[in-house]
Amino acid sequence: MNRRSQRQPGTTTPPPAAAPEATDVALDIRGLRVAFGDATVVEGLDLTVRRGEILALVGESGSGKSVTARAAMGLLPSGARITGGSVTLDGEDLVGLAPRRMDRIRGSRVAMLFQQPRAMLDPTATVRDQVAEPLWLHRGLSRREARRRVPGLLRDVGIPEPERRARAYAHQLSGGMAQRVMIAAALAGDPGLLIADEPTTALDVTVQAQILRLLKRRQRESGMSVLLITHDLGIVATTADRVAVMYAGRIVEDGPVAELFESPRHPYTQALLRASLLRREADRLYTIPGSAARARELRRGCRFRPRCPVADGTDVAGSCENEEPTLSSCGSGHRCRCWARPAEAVGG
Ligand SMILES: Nc1ncnc2c1ncn2[C@@H]1O[C@H](COP(=O)(O)OP(=O)(O)OP(=O)(O)O)[C@@H](O)[C@H]1O
Ligand code: SF4
Ligand SMILES: [Mg+2]
Repeated sequence: MNRRSQRQPGTTTPPPAAAPEATDVALDIRGLRVAFGDATVVEGLDLTVRRGEILALVGESGSGKSVTARAAMGLLPSGARITGGSVTLDGEDLVGLAPRRMDRIRGSRVAMLFQQPRAMLDPTATVRDQVAEPLWLHRGLSRREARRRVPGLLRDVGIPEPERRARAYAHQLSGGMAQRVMIAAALAGDPGLLIADEPTTALDVTVQAQILRLLKRRQRESGMSVLLITHDLGIVATTADRVAVMYAGRIVEDGPVAELFESPRHPYTQALLRASLLRREADRLYTIPGSAARARELRRGCRFRPRCPVADGTDVAGSCENEEPTLSSCGSGHRCRCWARPAEAVGG
């Protein structure tokens, strides 16, 4: 294993990570903390979605991806609250906004797609009513004109026989069709940012690919930004521009997809990639040893320390035990939170 310790803790200051210009930023999350009661599940999270990009957020189950997305949308489940940090959309801090103001922002400036589209559709309203709503609510059209435009929007997301589908109810749609309807409704308000939380996980592989192609095409056409939450690194590779890796409530690595997949620096990212590569081979399975830490269970030092195959025997092991590394630059637009930052290739 080629371990290259680029920084000795306490000896040199890491280079500051290059920050994009504020005008290039759609969503900027800084130091976000979210707790359920006194259990903190997202802790000090920094995440930036630039204008016109697809940023993928990946990480094992329970790392805090959905809680982060819901915090950004002001849609946290009951019992959860933001206990620190900021969520800035186009320069406006959303934390603590009055519910009516947040309602206006949702659907017009930011929209969300969920894993279970049918569950998100109103079972008592037709497709026409649900797709028309953002048009009259956020874009100033009359209800009549909004309803008239619905078949065109359904056609744009690849729904055949749009006039007939516009009269359907949620239970009459397949999963893939329901997700297309959700995409049509989300894009009808012309949002600058779309947050998609595992939007294709519940769909079969063929439909999954169609929906991802559709999302990418519509994103390119409209220039909107997308925060795409997924556990599937294959989807990241084919869909996203940049990727952020989350572990136990924090980002441990982020950067351009090609660079990060080519040269993953954090041992957790390396393990995720290794697991995803080997899973495609029928006779070999690799799972990351140990179980994912929850932010609430944390002790001092690096959160990944109990599962890390790198720290033992290195000269940074003491720091790994006692001090949490910061997210610092390790390449052009590439940041990593690791004392050792090994530069080995993935797979070994
Ligand atoms: N309603 C809830 N009540 C209490 N704890 C919760 C609740 N929802 C989430 N959590 C906790 O918050 C943490 C982060 O959960 P979250 O749903 O964001 O994970 P995730 O990364 O989206 O996982 P997955 O990939 O399974 O969707 C987890 O430890 C989870 O147990
Ligand atoms: S800081 Fe130490 S324990 Fe954490 S990932 Fe890096 S080498 Fe492993
Ligand atoms: Mg989730």
